[in-house]
This record gives sequence, structure tokens and C-alpha cells, in this order.
Amino acid sequence: MISYQVLKGDCYEVLKRLSADPEERGKYRLVVTSPPYYGHRHYGKDPHEIGQEQTAEIFIKKLADIFTICKDLLTEDGSLWIVIGDTRRRFGKLLIPHRLALKLVDRGYTIREDIIWFKKNNVSSSAKDNFSQAYELILFLSKGEKSLANMSSMRIRGNEAREGRNKTPPRHMVQYESINRDKNRIEEIKEIIRNAKPDTNFNELPTTGEIARAYGYDPEKYCPTCYRKFKRHATRKRIGDHKHYPIFAVCNPAGKNPGNVWDISTKAHYGNEHFAIDKFNIFDILKRFLRDILFILLFTLVIQVSIVS
Ligand SMILES: C[S@@+](CC[C@H](N)C(=O)[O-])C[C@H]1O[C@@H](n2cnc3c(N)ncnc32)[C@H](O)[C@@H]1O
Repeated sequence: MISYQVLKGDCYEVLKRLSADPEERGKYRLVVTSPPYYGHRHYGKDPHEIGQEQTAEIFIKKLADIFTICKDLLTEDGSLWIVIGDTRRRFGKLLIPHRLALKLVDRGYTIREDIIWFKKNNVSSSAKDNFSQAYELILFLSKGEKSLANMSSMRIRGNEAREGRNKTPPRHMVQYESINRDKNRIEEIKEIIRNAKPDTNFNELPTTGEIARAYGYDPEKYCPTCYRKFKRHATRKRIGDHKHYPIFAVCNPAGKNPGNVWDISTKAHYGNEHFAIDKFNIFDILKRFLRDILFILLFTLVIQVSIVS
């Protein structure tokens, strides 16, 4: 059930009012926003409009002041997600997203991720000496050191499986967990492999099948995440010093953590030339990532949204 309330006005003033109410403080698990980008476009004639400040520093400070109020409204495990692009002055980039991120760290946030939003269908740069801007950033910040994150709802298959390089194995040939792991045998194997020299003959080393079995996996069975046989998860020898490398690495059977490059193409907005990320793509991702949430959407209007699944 989704319910929402629209709070119209300058978001700084609206948030100030909201945070003045003790009931509202520490109540929201998520703030999602796409502020105006510095010096990109005029949206209207509102004197509070953000984006056209004298200097980038003033622009960044204004946003930081807004997000500092948001921090008071967030739950202890809450997070702030900012879709923000950079600005170029002649040939130089102002690094606005990262300067804002550093400013927010000064204000007590933790930078959890600077996700690259890759736009395959990016618009070609009109300047002949500049690369076309094919990405923007989605800054993921948490109020505390950690924030609620339901990564398991976003796990993906391994690269080889996703790209079809490894065929989907028959269901009965997939093994999801270790069976009868043999600690003593593992220690023996580690000892042999770690004392091996680069010129040690392979047949003096345990086979990859023996390693897989010691860890409790049938070497001929397949991993549910990358679709490789478990004997291919074993490593007997590595170039150079390899003491810290695992000799047997298993993928998370629930899938691989998704990457921090999100390939989401832009869409034209209502027929005009404003090519923007379809915010609902991000919502869908965050809804899965955060489950039941009460959140604030900034910078259209301030919208309070509650999603209780
Ligand atoms: C990048 S757009 C975001 C558009 C919107 N999220 C959407 O999906 O259409 C930035 C928006 O911030 C609004 N804006 C600019 N200054 C503002 C302020 N002080 N308070 C609230 N909104 C503001 C602009 O009018 C514009 O609609």
C-alpha cells in the first residue's frame, strides 16, 4: 500500500518546518533526491530556485544545509540517495558531486557508494574537445556508519552465467551448500599449497577435485551463481606470493552483489527535450533494497511517501 503527501514549497523551508516537529525527527528511512544541477537549467522564476548560484561553493553549501536537515529526519539506519551530475566550466569539470559528498562527510554522513549511472544512449557533447557525458552519479550516503540495506533482494548471477558463457546446469547437478566439510583435510591442503614453490610440480599438489571435496563440494557439481563446476573454484598455485589468497572461493549461493555501475537509459520527458533518468527505475531499485519504507522525495516538491508491503 503506497500513500503519499505532497508538501509544496522551497524544500529548505519545508524541511525546516518538518524537522521542527519532534514527531518527524528520526522518522524517515530514506531520502531520495535529484537536485537541480549547478548552472544547467532554469526551471522557473521562483527566487528560491537552486542551481544558479554565483559560485559552485555557494550551491554546494545550500545543498549541504538541506541534506543536514534531512539527516535529522532520517532514522538511525536511514540513507540519503542523491542523483547529481557535474558541471563543466569551459573545458574543466567542477567535480560538484564529489565536493558535495565531501561536504556531507563533514556534516556527519557516511559515503556508502558513488554509483555510476551509465547512460548508454548519452547525448553527444557539442564541444569538439570534450568527451560526451555518458554517466551521472548516484551518491548513496548513510546517517550512521551503516544503513538498512537488503542486498539479498538485489543479488545477481555471476558474470559468466549472466552473459550466457556458462550454460544453465541441470537442477540436480547444482549444489547450494557445503556438505561434510573436512577441517583437518583443509589444513593439510593449505599447508602443502602454501609451502609450494613456483617450480613445484603440479602432480605434487592436491587436485582441484580434492580441494573442492575437502570444502564439502562435489567437484563435478555446479555453483548456482556462476554455473562453474566446483573444481573450478579451487586454486592450487598462484603467481608470486599468494599466502592471503583463498585456495577455494565459493560464490554466495544467493547470487553476487550487484555492481556500482547502473546501466539505465534515459527517456524523453513528456515529449520535451528533457532527457532524465526515469526516477521510478531508481524507486524500484530502492524499494527492493529497503523493503518497508517511509521516505521523502525532494526537489520536485517535497513528497512524503510511505510504502508498506
Ligand atoms: C533535476 S530536477 C528534478 C526533477 C524531478 N525529480 C523529476 O523527476 O521530474 C530539479 C527540480 O528541483 C526543483 N527545485 C529547484 N529549486 C528548488 C527548491 N528550492 N525547492 C524545491 N524544489 C526546487 C526544480 O523546479 C526542478 O523541478
